[in-house]
Amino acid sequence: MREEQPDMPFTSQPMITDAHPGEPEEFRRLFPAYEHTRVLDEARRTDYTYLDVQNHLYLDYAGAGLAARRQQTAHLERVQNMVLGNPHSQNPTSLAATELVEQARTRILEYLQADPDEYAVIFTGNATGAARLVGESYPFTRRRRLVLTADNHNSINGIREFARRKNAATTYAAITGPDLRVETEELRSVLRRAGRGLVCFPAQSNFTGVQHPLDWVPMAQEMGYDVLLDAAAYLPTNRLSLATTQPDFLILSWYKIIGYPTGLGCLIARKQALSRLQRPWFSGGTVRASSVGVPWHSLAPDETAFEDGTVNFQGIADIPIGLDWLEDLGPEVIHARVQSLTGWLLHRLTGLRHSDGSPMARIYGPSTIVHRGGTVAFNLLDVSGNIVDERLVARESAAAAISLRTGCVCNPGAGEAALGLTPRDLLPLRDLRTGSLDDYLRLIGLPTAGAIRVSFGLASNASDAERFLAFIEGTYRDRLTDSTGLPARDRC
Ligand SMILES: Cc1ncc(COP(=O)(O)O)c(C=O)c1O
Repeated sequence: MREEQPDMPFTSQPMITDAHPGEPEEFRRLFPAYEHTRVLDEARRTDYTYLDVQNHLYLDYAGAGLAARRQQTAHLERVQNMVLGNPHSQNPTSLAATELVEQARTRILEYLQADPDEYAVIFTGNATGAARLVGESYPFTRRRRLVLTADNHNSINGIREFARRKNAATTYAAITGPDLRVETEELRSVLRRAGRGLVCFPAQSNFTGVQHPLDWVPMAQEMGYDVLLDAAAYLPTNRLSLATTQPDFLILSWYKIIGYPTGLGCLIARKQALSRLQRPWFSGGTVRASSVGVPWHSLAPDETAFEDGTVNFQGIADIPIGLDWLEDLGPEVIHARVQSLTGWLLHRLTGLRHSDGSPMARIYGPSTIVHRGGTVAFNLLDVSGNIVDERLVARESAAAAISLRTGCVCNPGAGEAALGLTPRDLLPLRDLRTGSLDDYLRLIGLPTAGAIRVSFGLASNASDAERFLAFIEGTYRDRLTDSTGLPARDRC
C-alpha cells in the first residue's frame, strides 16, 4: 500500500495561457498538473524573493528547505513580545515556554494525522539525533538483529555499530535493477532469514529519489520487527499519514521540511515501542529523580525521558508557524509541482545529446516519475563518453550561482549500486588504513566519487529547471573534460 497520493493529481486539462512565457510549451503539454500549482509562483514572489533578488538557482532542497519570509516575520514578532524561560521550572516564563513546546507537539501529531494516545513526539537536534536515540537504546541481542536496505543514509547505516556492540548481526537488503530499487521479495527474504529485530528504510532515497513502498511497514511488523521509517527526504514534498502508515519510529529534520528552524528534528515514536527502548544513560531533563549517595535514578515516564538537557524551546515554538504555511500552500500542490519539474528534468536529461549524437547524461535511479520523488542523481558525460568529474561540475555550477550537491550524498549503498560496484569489488577496502576518499577511489579503481544531485522543493519553478538545463547544454555540450587541477576530495 502506498500513501493515498496519486503521483500526478489534477489530471483534468487546464487552460494553457501565455502568462508564463519562460515555460516551454512542451513542458506545459507534458505536465498539465503544473498549471494547478500557480499558488506556488505567488509564494515565490511574496516569500522567497531573496532567490531571485540574489540570482540564486537553488536546487538542493534535499539538502535543506528554504524559509518563507513570513516564518521569519512571525519569529521576530514572537521573540519581541514573549519572554520565554527554561521549560524545566514552574515560573511564568518557564510555563510559557512549556506551553509552546506542548502546542508544537500537538501540532506535529495533527500534521502527521497521528493519534496522540498512540504516538509521542521527541525533540532532537536533527534526524540523525533521532536515529541515534533509537540505535543506542534498541535492545539488540544475538537473536534480535538489525536489517537495513542498502539504500539508506549514513545516519541509519551507523546504527549497525550499536548493533555490533551488542553482538547483533546486520543484514542488508540489496539494491537491484536499473531503477536502483529494493525488491519487496528481497526484503521479505532478508527479514525472514534474520529472524526479528529492527528494520530501517527511507520512505524516499536521498540519492536516487526512489520512494520505497510504505506497505513494507506492516509487512515487517507482521514478521515480528520494529520498523524505523526515515522520512527525512520524503516529508518535504509528500504527505505522510500516521493514521494509515504506522511505523514504530519515524525520524525527520525540520529544516528540510520548512527551512527554518535549523537544529531541530523529531523522533515520532509509538509509545509502546518507546517503552521497549533502554536508554544507555540519564541526564538533566530525563529523570523524575536521581541520587548520588546510591547509584539510583528514575527516568521520566513519558517522552521527556528521551530529551537530553534543555530542548531548543525557541526553535520548537516556530515549528507550528512553518506547518501552518505548508498546510496553507497544500502538501499535495507542492507534490504535484515537484513531480512535474522532476518529470521534465528527467525527460530533458535523457534526451540531451552531443553533436555526434552521444548522450550527455547518465541518470541513476528511475527515469520516470513513477514511485519516485523530486531528487535526481546523474553524471554528465563528456564528448568522449567519459564521466565529467563531479568536482568540475561542482566548481562550474557554483560559479553560475547554482546550488546543487555532488558526491555520494551520505548514501554509500545507493552510490555503490549506481556505479555498479559489487561487495567483491569493495573487498580491498578491508585493507585500507588511511581514510582519504581519494585513496578509496584509487583502490577500487573508480573514476568518480559519486553523482550530481539536483532536488526540487516548494519554491522551485519551471524557470529554475530551464536555467539549469541551459547551463548544462551551454557548458558541457561537445566538451572534452579532464580532472587536472581539481582539489583533493576529503569526504564523500
Ligand atoms: C533520508 C535522510 N535521512 C537522514 C538524513 C540526516 O538528516 P540530518 O543531517 O538533518 O540529521 C538525511 C539528510 O540528508 C536524509 O536525506
